[in-house]
Amino acid sequence: MILRQAVTADPTFEFAADVRAGLTRSGQKELPSKYLYDEVGSALFEVISALPEYGLTRADERLLRRHSAEIVSKLPTPLVVAELGSGSGKKTRYLLEALDRGQQTRYCPIEISHTALTMCARELGDIEHISIVGFEHEYLDGLREVARHRQTGEQILVLFLGSTIGNFDSPADVKFLREIRRTLQPGDLLLLGTDLIKPIPQMLDAYDDALGVTAAFNLNLLARINRDLNADFDLAQFEHEARFNPETRSIEMHLRSRRKQTARIPRAGMNVSVSEGETIWTESSHKYSRPDLLRLAMASNFRCEGQWVDEEWPFAETLLIAG
Ligand SMILES: C[S@@+](CC[C@H](N)C(=O)[O-])C[C@H]1O[C@@H](n2cnc3c(N)ncnc32)[C@H](O)[C@@H]1O
Repeated sequence: MILRQAVTADPTFEFAADVRAGLTRSGQKELPSKYLYDEVGSALFEVISALPEYGLTRADERLLRRHSAEIVSKLPTPLVVAELGSGSGKKTRYLLEALDRGQQTRYCPIEISHTALTMCARELGDIEHISIVGFEHEYLDGLREVARHRQTGEQILVLFLGSTIGNFDSPADVKFLREIRRTLQPGDLLLLGTDLIKPIPQMLDAYDDALGVTAAFNLNLLARINRDLNADFDLAQFEHEARFNPETRSIEMHLRSRRKQTARIPRAGMNVSVSEGETIWTESSHKYSRPDLLRLAMASNFRCEGQWVDEEWPFAETLLIAG
């Protein structure tokens, strides 16, 4: 894999600034979900995607396994594939293998997690007609880089799988898709994998498994603040909570304080006090209906080219074309 890293100021400084902003907000305290994915978080996410309760990954994978040939038949050549938040890229293999059209195709995973990029290169590095150029960047910065390196005549296929779009609240999801669209040219494509609304207990279990892996994934955010910002959060005094917000149709992950407590975060230049029962909100996962997806596409100037739905675990793969 060729690796391109973002020239950022100081990532610890940025992390400290975001932690400070989120924990000093009036009202609900928050931490950005992107910080869940450090070395430990990315490894834990891999385990989550194999858990019986977390049907999303298997549904996404089934759809790609069954329909990759048909999806690829709708794609132009030559093509460059850019995947936003690829994670380990395991299920992307089906699509990349189906892209064997007698010429090399560039595959560009875009990730903030160095660990995820390394896993992705290991996972997909053996596909002969694919060359991997990894971007250790934020989603849109990475996509702009891919677009900047576009060769004459090449179209871009953006993959945004695993229902990661659901981490954006509405209307931030439309705003984000509009930004993607602005980076693309007419005829470029976006394959969007989204989890569909289903019975609340089933959705809750997916974010609160019996083994406690999702709880560890969530608590690791405080552990990361302890490691990177020299803080002293007592992890045993927080518990993982998954709840359904009916207004936003999202599963929210929170960290609930078991008692009144104060933690020091020296590298963020602050102390934070939380009362008993108070929560820190760490992630949202919005659940869509099929009409929602068409509205989302229209509002961001994409046209729907095809949609495939998994019946076992309602989940949709939607192929959009930039208008
Ligand atoms: C929910 S996981 C999904 C992984 C994979 N696409 C899948 O479907 O299993 C989200 C991935 O996006 C990455 N990520 C989160 N926020 C990001 C950001 N702002 N820019 C780039 N990558 C990000 C994380 O590191 C993580 O690997």
